[in-house]
Amino acid sequence: MSYYRKHLFFCTNQRAEGAERPSCAQCGSPELRAWMKSRIKELGLAGAGGVRVNIAGCLDRCELGPVLVVYPEGVWYTYIDEDDLEEILQAHVIEGRPVERLRLPDAPDGPP
Ligand code: FES
Repeated sequence: MSYYRKHLFFCTNQRAEGAERPSCAQCGSPELRAWMKSRIKELGLAGAGGVRVNIAGCLDRCELGPVLVVYPEGVWYTYIDEDDLEEILQAHVIEGRPVERLRLPDAPDGPP
């Protein structure tokens, strides 16, 4: 068993204006990560044996971002707002059911 039941990594990479590739921070990922972290605390899910939310640097799926990945399953998501994150929290993190509508393919150009 893992130290954390679920471990979420949010890309919060910020590229300079005019960079060749987009970056997740341009889509609000730092603020949305902070919202998810506080929501998990609010629900009493944080800590050992529970859920951990961490900042990640670029995860190299920039064009599909903002992105986050949930372990131990290794399920990748994109999201737009707090409603999307709440759905991931309730369905996947709490109930163990990945949210297919927000899921990214496991392989480049492949189905989830
Ligand atoms: S900037 Fe987020 S995946 Fe690259």
